[in-house]
Amino acid sequence: MNELSIEHIAFFKENGYLILRGILDEGMCEKACDRMWSSLPADSTLKRNEPTSHKGPFPKSEVSDESLHIRQGYIWQLRECGTEQLLIDLVYNDRLCAIAEQLLGKGTLTPPIVGGEPMGNQGPAWPGGPTDPAIGSGIRGIYFTLPRETQERMPDYGHTDGHPFNLGLVGLIGDVPPDGGAFKVWPRSHKRLYPTFQMQYDQPRIPYYEHLPSHKGIIHSPEYTRELEKIMADTLPVDCWGKTGDVVLWHHRLAHMAGHNFSRSIRQAVLYDFTRKDLDKIRLDPPQENMWRDWSLEVQQTVCDYSQAFALSQNLKSDGQA
Ligand SMILES: [Fe+2]
Repeated sequence: MNELSIEHIAFFKENGYLILRGILDEGMCEKACDRMWSSLPADSTLKRNEPTSHKGPFPKSEVSDESLHIRQGYIWQLRECGTEQLLIDLVYNDRLCAIAEQLLGKGTLTPPIVGGEPMGNQGPAWPGGPTDPAIGSGIRGIYFTLPRETQERMPDYGHTDGHPFNLGLVGLIGDVPPDGGAFKVWPRSHKRLYPTFQMQYDQPRIPYYEHLPSHKGIIHSPEYTRELEKIMADTLPVDCWGKTGDVVLWHHRLAHMAGHNFSRSIRQAVLYDFTRKDLDKIRLDPPQENMWRDWSLEVQQTVCDYSQAFALSQNLKSDGQA
């Protein structure tokens, strides 16, 4: 039986994201949190059983820029666990695989590898740069965001990810209230940004040279930069807050950000990228006339129509106009 209704698929096509409630096993979410807390140095000021200590930023003495276990500012990311059985079973379970296959096509998924190389094992993409999420054979890891004590709001600014993948997943392994940093998305941005890329799934990159340090990393086309600025000005982001076990699925060209955490509890999530087995063959193709070419027939044939009540269930409060 198909998990997703036509309305689910229609909403995903139109808005580029889909929130599904209660998908992850709660007991396994708890175990993933146990794994996260057990990785923290014993003398950390952050104490699991002392909620008043749950706030950032990390003091200087506790900062770690080790790419398998990052603690910086309000960010706490554990990647060394990404190929452990527990984390792979948590997100690459039968139910979520069936859902991902309903979107991407039956038998198309590349499975993660238990005991394989976790993301971050090879360090950052260039000195001082980000870690490339495409290097690794498991989930991206457990990503916590610590609360900010200040209620002063910073402006939101979205981005798209530069590495090749097909379908993103953010899974909440603890309750996240509104404004709690769950995951923010700019609805419909995938349709506007997709055509501005030179390649469907990949992006050109400038190599890093120590003696030529001004340019490095991913290059965006001027069309992309212009369109992203327009989206930031004319579209309200959606805060994908929710309960333990809820997941957000998102299109690979959707503008998004992790979100600042203005709540009193830590945002606790796992991240995973579903990739198709043929990604290496298709990643350099230019954007297609039919942007759903590499998706299931069901996705291709679904007409974009959903009710207002359904939009509300997806935290989408208005027509998305800023
Ligand atoms: Fe991202």
